[in-house]
Amino acid sequence: MSRNLFKPSFGTYPHLLVGRDQLIDEFEDTFDGILDPAGLTILLSGQRGMGKTVLLDSYRRAAEAAGWLVITESSSNGLLERLTRDHLPRLLQKHSDKSPTQIESASGTIGPLGGGASWTERYPAESTLRSQITELTDALRPSGRGLVITIDEVQAADIEELRKLGEIIQYGRREERLLAFAAAGLSTPIEELLDHPGATFLRRAEHHPIGRVSRANVRASLAGTIADSGREIDIQALDVAADAVDGYPFMIQLVGYHSLKAHKTAGPVTIEAVTAGITAARRRLGRHVHTPALRPLSSVDRTYLLAMAPDDGPSRTGKIAERMGVTAQYAGEYRRRLIRDGIIEAAGHGQVRFTIPYTADHLREHAAHNALEGLAEEDS
Ligand SMILES: Nc1ncnc2c1ncn2[C@@H]1O[C@H](COP(=O)(O)OP(=O)(O)OP(=O)(O)O)[C@@H](O)[C@H]1O
Ligand SMILES: [Mg+2]
Repeated sequence: MSRNLFKPSFGTYPHLLVGRDQLIDEFEDTFDGILDPAGLTILLSGQRGMGKTVLLDSYRRAAEAAGWLVITESSSNGLLERLTRDHLPRLLQKHSDKSPTQIESASGTIGPLGGGASWTERYPAESTLRSQITELTDALRPSGRGLVITIDEVQAADIEELRKLGEIIQYGRREERLLAFAAAGLSTPIEELLDHPGATFLRRAEHHPIGRVSRANVRASLAGTIADSGREIDIQALDVAADAVDGYPFMIQLVGYHSLKAHKTAGPVTIEAVTAGITAARRRLGRHVHTPALRPLSSVDRTYLLAMAPDDGPSRTGKIAERMGVTAQYAGEYRRRLIRDGIIEAAGHGQVRFTIPYTADHLREHAAHNALEGLAEEDS
C-alpha cells in the first residue's frame, strides 16, 4: 500500500507548505542578523484552517535555525505560571550559570500561584518572569542568540496575563534585548482583543492577516504531495481538485487526502477518485470549519450572509441590500463588520465574497435543513 502524505488535521505541519514564501523569508531575515526589529513582535490572524498555527511553527523553525531558544505556548489559563515555573527555569538551567532557584529567590517569589490569588500575591510572577527573561537573554546575548515566545490561540488569553507579558516584552524592547514574541488567533476575537486597553503591545505588533493561497500554489502542493506519496494524478483530475480547494489551505489537505484514499486502483489518480474525495472533504469542512465559524454570528449577520448565498461567485453589495430589503447604508454596516470579522472579504469594486469556500453552499443546505425542521415542528 502506498503512502498518503496529506495531513488533514489542524495544527499539523503540511508535507508541502505553499504560498507563504514571502512571510517565511521575512521570518528568516528577522533572525538572520535582525535587520528589522519589527519582525520581533508579530501577530497572525485569520479564519480557521488558513494556516496560522503552521506559520507560527515556521516562525519557530526560523528562530531555531538561527540558534534562538523558543518557548511554544497556547493561551490557556496559567500561562505566566507555566512560563515562570516550567519553561524558563528549564531553559535557565541549561543556558545560564545562575541556578533557577537563585533567580527565583532574587525576585522574591512566594508560594504557589492559585487562580484566586490577589494581584499582590500574583505580582511576584510578573517580576519573576521579568528577571528570568532578563537573565536568560543576558546569558544568550554573547552568542548573538535570543529568546522567542510563541502563543497560539491568543484570542483565548486571560487579558490580565497578556497585559503583564506585553509589559515585559516592551521592557525587553526598550532594553534592546534579543526577545521575540509571535501570536496567532482567529480574526474576529483578535479584532476585539486589539480594541482592549490591556492589549496595547499587540496593537504595535506587525500584524499579518493570513488568507487564501493562489491556484498555482494549490496545484503545486497537490501534485508535489501526491508525487512524494509515490502516486501520480491525471492533469484534468488535478485541475478539478485545485478548483475545489479554491485557495483554502485546509482544503488542500482534505481534498488531497480523501482523493488518494478514494483511489483504490493502480495508475494515476482519476477524476472519479477526486470527485469522491471532494465530497468527503466538503463534509469534513462543514463540520470542522463552517459550523463553528457561523455559530457566533447574530441573526442579522446571518441574514446578510444568506442574502449572498444565492450567488455562485462574488455578490454585488447593492444586490445584497435589495435581497435583504434594506438600504445600502444599513447593509453596509453589516458588510463592514463581517469583513472585519474575516467572514467575508472585498472582491473588487462593490463586491464581496466568502472568505472560506463553500460557505454559501453550507448556508443554503442549512437554511433548507432548518426550514424542514421548522415544518416538522409545525406538523408535530
Ligand atoms: N500554506 C499551506 N499549504 C498547505 N497546507 C497548509 C498550508 N497552511 C495550512 N495548511 C494545512 O491546513 C490545515 C490547517 O492549518 P492550521 O492548523 O495551521 O490552521 P489554523 O489557521 O491554525 O486553524 P485554526 O484557526 O482552526 O487553529 C493543516 O492541515 C495544515 O497542514
Ligand atoms: Mg491553529
